[in-house]
Formats: sequence, structure tokens, C-alpha cells
Amino acid sequence: MATGVHDAGGRPMPQKSSTAGSSPRRFGSLLSVLLIPFARRFIAGITLADALETTSALKAGGFLTTLDHLGESVESAEESKIAADQYVVMLRALKERNLDRNVSLKLTQMGLLIDPELCFANMSKIVAAAEETGGFVRVDMEGSDVTQATLDIVNRLKRTRATPVGAVLQAMLRRTPMDVVDLIGRGTTIRLCKGAYKEPAETAYKETPEIRHQFASLAKRLLTSGEYHAIATHDEALIREMIDFARQQGIPPDRFEFQMLLGIRPSFQRQIVSEGWRLRLYVPFGRAWLPYTWRRMREKKENFWFGIKSLFQR
Ligand code: FDA
Repeated sequence: MATGVHDAGGRPMPQKSSTAGSSPRRFGSLLSVLLIPFARRFIAGITLADALETTSALKAGGFLTTLDHLGESVESAEESKIAADQYVVMLRALKERNLDRNVSLKLTQMGLLIDPELCFANMSKIVAAAEETGGFVRVDMEGSDVTQATLDIVNRLKRTRATPVGAVLQAMLRRTPMDVVDLIGRGTTIRLCKGAYKEPAETAYKETPEIRHQFASLAKRLLTSGEYHAIATHDEALIREMIDFARQQGIPPDRFEFQMLLGIRPSFQRQIVSEGWRLRLYVPFGRAWLPYTWRRMREKKENFWFGIKSLFQR
């Protein structure tokens, strides 16, 4: 992987001064170099040019995509503004290349924890770029300490039902059924996922069967809402249940989409597309790839061993 973030034409993109650049250092540069072969499975690369190339290949394979410039909580207003500018560059580059102008981002990367007004200003800039390019901005959901603040910003950004911004809700949270009703009422498109954050029992379901049960019932609610929503999971039984449900209800494949992460269950991903369903892949790229890769590695035992093996196969 090359170093430095560059735009589609190879020009350097605005850089964060510390967070993105220091993450690999923080995790140890030797570890990051050794894990590169493993990371290639989950990350489109370091530069925007890498990400555009991957996006273009996925488009040729029949996939929809959403691009994520990796980076989480920023430490200064300056860093958050640079992160926002990077997303504007991404949307314009996607348009230039006639690729899917769909991006995903985290509000802590846009300064939510520094000042919600700063975050709102950064997000307004990105949503304006999405309007200008015919794109779409999906606001990822983080831990339950910022759920309400995140939804407040999405609600403020959504001036009309057509504003190209959408939310993510986590089936593991006890509050999510109420949020589903509220967002459907506002005409906000939702990505439903299980939830990746460690939450206390008073806030979230902790057992897999409960989470899967809530996921299935909320996903069905989304499918019958009349709006276009996204079902994000690699759980084959849940996906098959949604496909059966859509068929029974006469919901055509272009009225919703499945979403999965780049590199996870790729043969199953191809199968879903070959069966005629819409599938959007979440395509992360950027210098802050190590924490993301590390999370994917820890999620599954087989990934962990694959990662360890890759350390010795250079
Ligand atoms: P689950 O973990 O139950 O796994 C089902 C099957 O999928 C496994 O048996 C295995 O075969 C396969 N699998 C899953 N993870 C794998 C891995 N790492 N490696 C190999 N195989 C794996 N979360 C969040 O809190 N906020 C967000 O904004 C998002 N956004 C988001 C976008 C998209 C497109 C996806 C797919 C997911 C998210 N998530 C998320 C993450 C989500 O909450 C959840 O943690 C993961 O998707 C894992 O849960 P699953 O439902 O996929 O299945």
C-alpha cells in the first residue's frame, strides 16, 4: 500500500494532522506493516485512487458501494474540517468517474464530541456536496452515548424528505423500535445493523437470539414501510428470511437493498447479487486502516488465525 491520501488524479488530499496519520504509529508501525496482507481483504487501500479503483471493479461485478474514509473521533476543530473536506473531494471524484456517489461517515470524525454546532456545519457542507453531485450521505451509528446526538444532527440536516442523508439504527438497542417509527415518520432512510459497540444491559439486548429477533422484526417493518431502506448483515439465515418475506409481500428487489462489508463472505455476496438482489458493499480506505482491520480480525476466530498466519507468510 502506498502512503499519503491522494485524490482521483493523484493530487494530495487534505490531511488530518494527527489522528489518521498517527494511528498506525500508535498501533506500532511494525505490526501495521506485517498486517498489510490481511488488511487487503477488508480495506480498499490507502489513497482515494485505490478506493476508486476498487469501487469501479465492484460496480463491474454488479455491486453498489458506499465509500468510507477511515478515521474516528477527531481531537480538534481543524481536524474535523479537514475530514469534512475530504468527503467533499470524495463525492466529486466519484461523480467525475461516474461511480456510485454514496459515502458513509461517523459524526465523531466530524467533530461531534468537540461541538455539535461544528459537527452540524461540517455535515451541512458534505450534504450540500451530495446534493450538488447527486450523491448520498449515510451517517454511521456509534456507541449509545451518542445515539441521540447523532439522530438530532441527522434530523436537523434533513430539511426535506429529499435531502440525501440517511441514518443507521442498531437492532441490539432497546430504544430502536421507537427510533424506527420516528425516522419512518420523517421519511429518513435507515440502514439497520445489529450494532458493533459494547453496551450495558439496561440499554441493549446482550444475547444473540434476542438481537436477531429484534433485527428480523424491525427489518420487516422497514420493508413494508414504503420507503427505501437497507438491511446490513452477513447473517445468511436473516437474509434468507428477508428474501422470503419480500417475496411473500410482493416487494420487488429494487425497493430495498442488502449491505455487507468489503471482504466478508465474498462468495455469499456474489451469490446474493447473482440472485438479483441489490447489495451495497461498505468500502473503507485511508491511512487509519489498522484499527478497522483489527476490529474485523477480532470479530471472528478464523480471521484472527488468518491474520496471525499472514504475519509469517511474508
Ligand atoms: P454476525 O456477526 O452474527 O455474523 C453472521 C455471519 O457472518 C457469521 O457467522 C460469519 O459467517 C459472517 N461474519 C460476520 N462478521 C465476520 C467477519 N468479521 N469475518 C468473517 N465472517 C464474518 N455497526 C454499528 O454499530 N454502526 C454502524 O454504523 C454499522 N454499519 C455497518 C454497515 C454495514 C454495511 C455492515 C454490514 C455492518 C455495519 N455495522 C455497523 C456492523 C454490525 O453492527 C455488526 O457488528 C456486523 O455486521 C456483524 O454482524 P452481522 O449481522 O453481520 O452478523
